[in-house]
Amino acid sequence: MASSFNLIFFLSFFFIPSSHVVSMEAEALLKWKASLPNTTQTLLSSLWVGSNHCNWIGVTCDGTESLTNLSLAEYGLRLRGTLDSLNFLSFPNLIRLHLRNNSLYGPIPKHIGNLSKLIFLDLSFNNFSGSIPSKICLLKSLELISLASNEISGPIPRDIGSLSSVSNIYLYDNYLSGPIPSSIGRLHNLFRFDLHSNQLNGSIPKQVGMLRSLYLLDISGNSLTGSIPTSIGNLSNLVYLYFYDNYLSGSIPSEIGLLKSLSTLQLLGNNLSGVIPSSIVNLTNLFSLLLADNAISGPIPRDIGMLKSLNVLSLTNNSISGSIPASIGNLTKLTGLFLAENSLSGHIPQPTIILLISNYQTTISLVRYQRIYVLVEYSLTLRWSTTI
Ligand SMILES: *[C@@H]1O[C@H](CO)[C@@H](O)[C@H](O)[C@H]1NC(C)=O
Ligand SMILES: *[C@@H]1O[C@H](CO)[C@@H](O)[C@H](O)[C@H]1NC(C)=O
Ligand SMILES: *[C@@H]1O[C@H](CO)[C@@H](O)[C@H](O)[C@H]1NC(C)=O
Ligand SMILES: *[C@@H]1O[C@H](CO)[C@@H](O)[C@H](O)[C@H]1NC(C)=O
Ligand SMILES: *[C@@H]1O[C@H](CO)[C@@H](O)[C@H](O)[C@H]1NC(C)=O
Ligand SMILES: *[C@@H]1O[C@H](CO)[C@@H](O)[C@H](O)[C@H]1NC(C)=O
Ligand SMILES: *[C@@H]1O[C@H](CO)[C@@H](O)[C@H](O)[C@H]1NC(C)=O
Ligand SMILES: *[C@@H]1O[C@H](CO)[C@@H](O)[C@H](O)[C@H]1NC(C)=O
Ligand SMILES: *[C@@H]1O[C@H](CO)[C@@H](O)[C@H](O)[C@H]1NC(C)=O
Ligand SMILES: *[C@@H]1O[C@H](CO)[C@@H](O)[C@H](O)[C@H]1NC(C)=O
Ligand SMILES: *[C@@H]1O[C@H](CO)[C@@H](O)[C@H](O)[C@H]1NC(C)=O
Repeated sequence: MASSFNLIFFLSFFFIPSSHVVSMEAEALLKWKASLPNTTQTLLSSLWVGSNHCNWIGVTCDGTESLTNLSLAEYGLRLRGTLDSLNFLSFPNLIRLHLRNNSLYGPIPKHIGNLSKLIFLDLSFNNFSGSIPSKICLLKSLELISLASNEISGPIPRDIGSLSSVSNIYLYDNYLSGPIPSSIGRLHNLFRFDLHSNQLNGSIPKQVGMLRSLYLLDISGNSLTGSIPTSIGNLSNLVYLYFYDNYLSGSIPSEIGLLKSLSTLQLLGNNLSGVIPSSIVNLTNLFSLLLADNAISGPIPRDIGMLKSLNVLSLTNNSISGSIPASIGNLTKLTGLFLAENSLSGHIPQPTIILLISNYQTTISLVRYQRIYVLVEYSLTLRWSTTI
C-alpha cells in the first residue's frame, strides 16, 4: 500500500506538474479548502494527502488526470462552509458533483452553469439558500439534479425544460415559490419529479401530460390551486401520484382511469368536488386510494370491488352518499377502510367486515378491538348489521 502510494507520488512528482490543467484543478480545490472553517480544513487535509489531487479521497480523474467526480457525500463528513471560493471554471471535465448531507450553506454559485459535462448534481441535505441560478438550465447533460432539503427560495427557473437529458428532479423540502413552469412539458426523459413541501402556487400546467416517462409525481404540501388537468391521463407509466395538501378544486378527471400502472393515488386535503369517476375501477394495480378531507359527493363507484390490489381506501370527511356497494367485499387485500364523516346510509356489507378482521392477522382480543375500531371509522349513520 505504502509503496504503491510512493510510486504514484514519485510519478506524479515528475509528470503531473507538466499539465497546467491539473495543477490548476488542485490549486482550485486547495483554495476552496482554505476558505472553509478550520475544523473542515483539518478534515479535508486528512483526506487530501499528496500533491496529485487525483489520488485524494473524494476525487476521481479521467485518463488525462483531469477531475471528473467530486464526491464528498458518503463519508458522514459534515463539511461546513460555502461554495463561494470553489471556482467551477477550473473543472471543465466535471461529470459528478456529490455534496449531499453536509452542512454547507450560502448560495449555489451561478457559474455552476459552465459545467457543461455535468451529469449528476446532488447538493441535497445541506443549508444552501438563495434562489436556484437560472444558468443551471444550460446543463444539457444533466441526468439528476437534487437540491432537496435545503433553504432555497424563489422560483423554479422558467427554462427548466431545457434540461433535455434530465430524468430525476428532486427539489422537495425547500421554500420555493411561484408556479410550476410550463416548460416542463419538454422533459421527455423525466422519471421522478419531486417538488413536495415547498410554497409553489398557481395551477398544475397541462403540459404535465407530456411527461410520458414519468414514474413518480409528487407535488404535495404546496399551495397549488385550479383543477387537475385532464392531460394527466397520458401518464401511462405513472406509479406514484401525490397531490395531497394543496388547494386543488374541481372534480377528479375521469382520465385518471387511464393510469393503468398507478399504485398510489393520494389526493387528500384539497378542495376537490364532484363525484369519484367510475373509471377509477380500472386501476387494478392501485394499492392506496386516499381521497379524505375534500368535498367529494355522490356514491362510491358500484364496481369498487374491481380494485383487486387495494390495501387502503380512505374517503373520510367528504360528502359521499348512498350505500356501501356490496362489491367492496371483493377487496381481499384491504386492511384499512376509512369512511367516517360522510353521508353514507344502509348496512355494512358483511363480507367486508370479515375481510378486514381476517387481514389484521392478530389475536382474538385485538380482533375484538379492531372490530370496534372498524365500527368507529364508519359513519355513525350506519347501522352495525352483522356479528362475527
Ligand atoms: C484557523 O486557522 C488559522 C491558521 O490556519 C488561524 O490563524 C486561526 O486563528 C484559526 N482560527 C480558529 C478559530 O481556530
Ligand atoms: C446524513 O449522514 C448521517 C451520518 O453522518 C446519517 O445518520 C443521516 O441519516 C444522513 N442523512 C441523510 C438524509 O442522508
Ligand atoms: C463518477 O461519476 C460517474 C457519473 O455519475 C459515474 O458513472 C462513475 O461511477 C463515478 N465514478 C466514481 C469513481 O465515483
Ligand atoms: C442548518 O442550519 C440550522 C440553523 O440555521 C441548523 O439547525 C441545521 O442543523 C442546519 N442543517 C444542516 C443540514 O446543516
Ligand atoms: C460561462 O458561461 C457563460 C454563459 O452562461 C459564458 O458566457 C461564459 O463565457 C462561460 N465562461 C467560461 C469561462 O467558460
Ligand atoms: C403566487 O404567490 C405570489 C406571492 O408569493 C403572488 O405574487 C402570486 O400572485 C401568486 N400567484 C398565484 C397564481 O396565486
Ligand atoms: C395526450 O397527448 C397527446 C399528444 O401528445 C395529445 O394529443 C392528447 O390530447 C393528450 N391527452 C390528453 C388527455 O391530454
Ligand atoms: C373550494 O371550492 C369551491 C368551489 O368548488 C370554492 O367556492 C371555495 O372557495 C373553495 N374553497 C377553498 C378554501 O379554496
Ligand atoms: C375501463 O377500461 C376499459 C378498457 O380500457 C374501458 O372500455 C372501460 O370503459 C373502462 N371502464 C370505465 C368505468 O371507465
Ligand atoms: C375536513 O376537510 C376539510 C377540507 O376539505 C378540512 O378543512 C377540515 O378540517 C376537515 N375536518 C376534519 C374533522 O378533519
Ligand atoms: C366478486 O368477485 C366475484 C369473482 O371475481 C364475482 O363473481 C362477483 O360478482 C363479485 N361480487 C361483486 C359484488 O362484485
